[in-house]
Amino acid sequence: MDPVRNPYAPGAGQRPPELTGRDREIAQFEVVLERVARGRPERSMVLTGLRGVGKTVLLNTFRSMAIQRLWGTGKIEARPDQSLRRPIAGALHMAVREIAPRHRAPDRIEYFLGVLKAFALRDPALPKGTSVTTSMGIDVPALRGRADSGDMEVDLTELFTEAASVAADLGVGIGVFIDEMQDVQAQDVSALCAACHELSQNGGPLIVVGAGLPHLPSVLSASKSYSERLFRYARIDRLDRDAADLALLAPAERESVTFTDGALDALYAAADGYPYFVQAYGKVTWDVAATSPVTEKDVRVAAPEAESELAVGFFGSRYERATPAEREYMRAMAACGDEPVPTSQVADELGRKPSSLSPARDGLIKKGLIYSSERGLIAFTVPHFGKFLRAQPV
Ligand SMILES: Nc1ncnc2c1ncn2[C@@H]1O[C@H](COP(=O)(O)OP(=O)(O)OP(=O)(O)O)[C@@H](O)[C@H]1O
Ligand SMILES: [Mg+2]
Repeated sequence: MDPVRNPYAPGAGQRPPELTGRDREIAQFEVVLERVARGRPERSMVLTGLRGVGKTVLLNTFRSMAIQRLWGTGKIEARPDQSLRRPIAGALHMAVREIAPRHRAPDRIEYFLGVLKAFALRDPALPKGTSVTTSMGIDVPALRGRADSGDMEVDLTELFTEAASVAADLGVGIGVFIDEMQDVQAQDVSALCAACHELSQNGGPLIVVGAGLPHLPSVLSASKSYSERLFRYARIDRLDRDAADLALLAPAERESVTFTDGALDALYAAADGYPYFVQAYGKVTWDVAATSPVTEKDVRVAAPEAESELAVGFFGSRYERATPAEREYMRAMAACGDEPVPTSQVADELGRKPSSLSPARDGLIKKGLIYSSERGLIAFTVPHFGKFLRAQPV
């Protein structure tokens, strides 16, 4: 059928034509927004899940919900080797800029921007003499004595408190959205938790909403034991059969196209409910099918092409980030099956001592390709990755 009208959207962070199966999380986040804006105690939300399961898309949806309520919002994507200071400053700058035009007291905004600038200038990675004015567009002088101590925990708490009070003047809130949150550096994680803790105690309407890999809760609790009381963890998983069908049918119906039951069975068997795969198989199947309804045969014809696109775009791009030793480690994991596997078993598979494999394992965790699901067990962050690896020529 006409590829121009193809509605499906495989791709990292690509908004799906129909966001299905996430009603519960969306309803929960509605409550969070409402309560926080009213200064009620409430835990913020952190989304966790495997690669391609729809965390970024849902995080963006949450952000849109906040914007609809006239909140100020900013978003960052954490990176393993980067301090949060400048990205957070940028996100809060954007958030406050969104609400500033509605504020009656321009000097309050100016004061906040002065504090924000002082905070950003404390970034140790900033070359001496760098002007934050040029890099961030803050055209007020930096203030002294607030959020500029150099201690991230103190500074972030003060900055969040100031930002929250600007929003509180307007009866709205501020949402800071952090994607790939497992990559936030340890000292920054602890500062973030401390700042959120402080805000939740004094009712400041600012929340940090996160998304990350399944081990994110343990990253947070390793840094502050009270993190479980700050965040409600929502594990984002595969779509169930109804949600996966709807993800395919609803966009197709808008183009007057439908699927036979056999086609839907075959698509669910292939995509296994993983949102990225649903979009990928849906897209190729649409292009292959000659007319509506799309049939099981169309799916069968499309499958090899969808698989080879996934092999390049979804699996291959990730595999290529690994070093030869890390690849060997992942192949050994794949040989052990699809369940989380004890690290000792991977070592046995390779005929090596577990300790000699730590660099490979740690490298893969840092690259976000594997995670430790429980003590001593590791698993792939990428669904069906074991199957992909087993199909590769050695
Ligand atoms: N609820 C959903 N219904 C239908 N399609 C979805 C849904 N959620 C996500 N998708 C689709 O799945 C794909 C992956 O989404 P997204 O990039 O948000 O995943 P992710 O969990 O952030 O992955 P990663 O860990 O690699 O960043 C996108 O193509 C998106 O359109
Ligand atoms: Mg993502």
